[in-house]
Amino acid sequence: MSAARGGGAGASPAKKQKIGAPATAVPVAAKDVKLLHSARAGDCAAIKAAIKAGAQVTFQDHEGGVSALMAAAEGGHVEAVQVLLQYGAPWNSVDHRGLCAGQYAFAKNHQAVVDVLVNAGVQAEMLFRAIESKKSRESKASEDNRKYLQRGVSYEKDTLVDDDKRGVMMEWETPLMAAHAEIICQTKGDVLNVGFGMGIVDGYIQGHAPRSHTIIEAHPTVYKKMMAEGWGDKPGVRVVFGRWEDVIGDLGPFDGIFFDTFDDDFMAFHSHLPRILKKEGVYSFFNGIYPENVFFQGVACQLIEQELEGYGMVSQFITCNIDIDKNKDKQKQWDGVRFKYFMGEHYYLPIITHSEAAEAAEASGSAGSEAEAGAAVGQTPSATA
Ligand SMILES: C[S@@+](CC[C@H](N)C(=O)[O-])C[C@H]1O[C@@H](n2cnc3c(N)ncnc32)[C@H](O)[C@@H]1O
Repeated sequence: MSAARGGGAGASPAKKQKIGAPATAVPVAAKDVKLLHSARAGDCAAIKAAIKAGAQVTFQDHEGGVSALMAAAEGGHVEAVQVLLQYGAPWNSVDHRGLCAGQYAFAKNHQAVVDVLVNAGVQAEMLFRAIESKKSRESKASEDNRKYLQRGVSYEKDTLVDDDKRGVMMEWETPLMAAHAEIICQTKGDVLNVGFGMGIVDGYIQGHAPRSHTIIEAHPTVYKKMMAEGWGDKPGVRVVFGRWEDVIGDLGPFDGIFFDTFDDDFMAFHSHLPRILKKEGVYSFFNGIYPENVFFQGVACQLIEQELEGYGMVSQFITCNIDIDKNKDKQKQWDGVRFKYFMGEHYYLPIITHSEAAEAAEASGSAGSEAEAGAAVGQTPSATA
């Protein structure tokens, strides 16, 4: 769960289990069907009996890929969901439509079940992260990132793509980048952007006229382009060429930081925040984790929140509407792109601050709720692509 963009660096470590309809008809065991029915009815005793009799808690029906956990979640049966989880039902299995148990519960407004499943997802991911050592995760991310940096990239009309036809950046994200720039430039102080891409966020940062504007970029082609566009000569702008991992030690602290790289471990960047983010500073990052599944995205946001808490930071996520799927011109930007890194109608824009600053703001009555956090930066961003 570390790459916000790109397919590498464990972009799908939730070990999501997607099943398709079997190629040949497989006989269905009566005990599995019994488990499914018991889960649908929320009958905990019958669920336990079916499992003890040998029913598979991972069973998904052949027609739609519905699992016992999904059936219990859809019925709003909190206890049955808890029992199934205790017996090892995977929280992240998806049916033939790509929906997980959390989405079944969400669709029927069963908030208590949603909460249980989010919690199960966060616990499982934390365990997964603990087992997969920090070192091996970081070295995998680093390998993916180095590979990307050695690939060719090219600028098309509205996109930046790598030579594997993966979209690195797209013009439709412009309103999101404007919102991120607004968040991190509220003090008009010293601002850092990691990852230039198409320079969209940097254009907006310039519009806020901060005291200083540092940009870290590691890809030679991107760096060449930004220099040709005169970014190296702009007053107050400092361009640092290199991987952030290699140059961050000599930089900071900053009032505002935005992080948006590719095939990279953005969570590794977080360990630097206590030093590089000033006491009253604001940090944000491109939040493109699990774009294909809003429930997994919610779990990821919680996980990030918990991880940042460990660094003494508080996180808030502001909802921005995106209507790219309805906009035919913007949709065309995906033509020929192999990896669709964003889907859906909502974008959860992260606002991260030191907890002491958040507590002080709350005590003075200037922050607290999500809406107030938006107000503190001018207005709640409502980006419509
Ligand atoms: C998605 S683009 C950034 C888009 C940018 N936010 C914009 O508004 O156009 C990601 C950028 O990060 C750069 N990048 C990737 N890995 C990096 C690393 N380790 N250090 C610094 N830059 C990196 C890529 O070359 C690319 O230019």
